[in-house]
Amino acid sequence: MDEILPPEPPAEHYFTARPRSPSRRRELRFLYRGALVTVVVDRGVFASSALDPGTALLIETLDPGPTDRILDLGCGWGAVGLAAARAAPGGSVLLTDVNRRAVYLARENLRRNRIANAEVRAGAGFVPVRGERFDLIATNPPYHAGRELLLALLAEGPEHLTPTGRLLLVGKGSQGIHFYQRWLTDHWAATVEVRARGGGYRVLEARPASAPVDERKARAGPPRTVGRRPRRSA
Ligand SMILES: C[S@@+](CC[C@H](N)C(=O)[O-])C[C@H]1O[C@@H](n2cnc3c(N)ncnc32)[C@H](O)[C@@H]1O
Repeated sequence: MDEILPPEPPAEHYFTARPRSPSRRRELRFLYRGALVTVVVDRGVFASSALDPGTALLIETLDPGPTDRILDLGCGWGAVGLAAARAAPGGSVLLTDVNRRAVYLARENLRRNRIANAEVRAGAGFVPVRGERFDLIATNPPYHAGRELLLALLAEGPEHLTPTGRLLLVGKGSQGIHFYQRWLTDHWAATVEVRARGGGYRVLEARPASAPVDERKARAGPPRTVGRRPRRSA
């Protein structure tokens, strides 16, 4: 797809490509899978003072295969990609963000945590991963950038998934997660499941209809809450 840049907001927002707000770096610590993770965060980047609760639910839900190729789309300072790299030590992770300050922080945070199986690229949407496919796309996407941008990202998602690939998407009601759940079911996913709920957030898992049904069932495991809707005929 063509590069879709987020609209420049009147006041600086976390999805600004080049934040101008003065830097105020601080260290943040959180536990992931029993290990302490120490990161640097900064103003002008999403979750600049604490791990976002939606992101926390997403990383708790992450269940990559051991050698999966994973994309953290809109990585911010790198929480999801860092967790994914830890969860799939034999796999590889790509982190991308349009916000250059976020990209620098994510790189620094990978280095600090001695993560060798991950790489950070700057750019909007799927532009930095043109022609590449992933087993898992995990994202806490930029809801504030608007529905048009989000739908463009979701519409392009299947082009970047392997035949058995899937999307993990976190969001809450006020961010329109119910709308996106329906949209995914209607537009590209034969199955959309709610993998986790908490604090008003839900983590959706969506698999494009092109993935073989048996494979999808096998990977989905035992039935959980399923948000299925009949496909629209038009
Ligand atoms: C809700 S934040 C999530 C950040 C991080 N994954 C986390 O969970 O803490 C969404 C991120 O998407 C980035 N973003 C905004 N528009 C984007 C675009 N068009 N392409 C890629 N990333 C974008 C923002 O800069 C922001 O870092």
